[in-house]
Amino acid sequence: MKHHFSRRDFLRTSAALAAVPVLSSAGLAVSPNGKLRTAHIGVGGMGGADLSSIASHPKVEVAALCDVDLDRLNQAKSQHPQAKIFRDFREMLSSLGDTIDAVVVSTPDHTHAPAAMSALNHNKPVYCQKPLTHEVFEARQLRLVAEKKNLPTQMGIQVHSSTPYRRAVAMIQSGMIGKVSRVYAWSNKNWGYDGQATPAEQAPPANLEWNLWLGTAAKRPYAPHVYHPGAWRKMIDFGTGTLGDMGVHIFDTPYAALELTAPKWAKTTCRKPTGVGHPEKNIVEYEFPGTKHTTESLLWTWHDGAFAPPKGEALDLPSLNLPDQGSLFLGEEGQMLLPHVGEAQLFPQEKFRDYQRPEVDGADHYHQWVDACLGEGKTSAGFSYAGPLTEALLLGVVANRYPETKLEWDAERLEITNLPEANKLLRRTYRDGFEVAGL
Ligand SMILES: NC(=O)c1ccc[n+]([C@@H]2O[C@H](COP(=O)([O-])OP(=O)(O)OC[C@H]3O[C@@H](n4cnc5c(N)ncnc54)[C@H](O)[C@@H]3O)[C@@H](O)[C@H]2O)c1
Repeated sequence: MKHHFSRRDFLRTSAALAAVPVLSSAGLAVSPNGKLRTAHIGVGGMGGADLSSIASHPKVEVAALCDVDLDRLNQAKSQHPQAKIFRDFREMLSSLGDTIDAVVVSTPDHTHAPAAMSALNHNKPVYCQKPLTHEVFEARQLRLVAEKKNLPTQMGIQVHSSTPYRRAVAMIQSGMIGKVSRVYAWSNKNWGYDGQATPAEQAPPANLEWNLWLGTAAKRPYAPHVYHPGAWRKMIDFGTGTLGDMGVHIFDTPYAALELTAPKWAKTTCRKPTGVGHPEKNIVEYEFPGTKHTTESLLWTWHDGAFAPPKGEALDLPSLNLPDQGSLFLGEEGQMLLPHVGEAQLFPQEKFRDYQRPEVDGADHYHQWVDACLGEGKTSAGFSYAGPLTEALLLGVVANRYPETKLEWDAERLEITNLPEANKLLRRTYRDGFEVAGL
């Protein structure tokens, strides 16, 4: 008998459709008009740039904005008047549910993992600023959960998708400088601080939710110019020093090009730790297991602050005029200098004079993630890549708490094997009331 579609059927189907979110071809929820509804956590500073870059995608609808600083929140709201606003990202995620599709995290480093994991726990794809996390354990957990849920993710290392960096990766992988035995990477920035945590204790300004800004970190009084905005980079409980800030950009190309995994050990040369701020200048050495692009193992040396750039004599290339930030690959058949940011230079110059550089297309790192959320293509710096890169970097940051000590690393067990007391620095205990499932 032919089935007639009754009014009751129609109502039943409409109710079901209303309850089931519209899915993109990636199987993710999107708004009924096919747009990706984004929610942004941290909308001042870099968060403002992230917001404009994501919003410039024609299929994005900015649905929600969250910031603990009311002035910054209002500024972003003036650009996106239709967006709902929040001070607490936990409230935003739980109250908006399926009316948002994807989350952007642009807070200080210590809040990356709590915010990103909370978004993943709500099954939202995440774009998260660099470095992926503040703690090694958090980087491992974010990667595992993102992989298990198969959600599109991207870490905010936008130069990763630029033409010069992609070209440098292609050149190294073509073997044109031979197998690489050593990498130097450096930044002359100084995100160090040898002062006290509260040099001038003050009541927090009225626009700032200080307790929410502290988030998972232990409670302490507010002090001006030490934490918010930006200065938190120098403080061990919130930022990751120059290595975490710039190293993550500058390590990225060598790490990707050489297809590195986890280091065998890390050792830092710096001043004695104070327990408050990161050291002002550091030399961090690593050894990585060899890959098909390297010699049997790879030595990696990072210089920052007044230790950067490394001296030419140390590099055996005394005539080289090094930029303030960049990396240098020493291969068996030549060297590549990669400034941050720009095209690579090759040495010896005569040898590579007629070398034809590969044609490579860059991409918009932000739009790549939006497209992946909408089911088109994949991201290039998803948490499967960003997690291990961040773990390696953060091991070097932990090493600045034990100057001149080689920290032997068992990545599989997430353990420093020769100095058990250092393992406590791999994972923070979250403050009561700020716990996050999975962390
Ligand atoms: N990819 C890049 O080129 C690049 C450049 C600069 C900064 N960054 C990264 O961006 C992040 C932010 O850096 P910044 O210089 O903009 O710092 P910032 O302190 O200037 O800004 C952080 C913003 O987040 C807000 N915020 C802080 N805690 C919050 C919370 N719990 N919930 C919601 N909002 C919160 C602040 O009020 C502020 O608006 C850092 O992780 C940094 O490493 C990346």
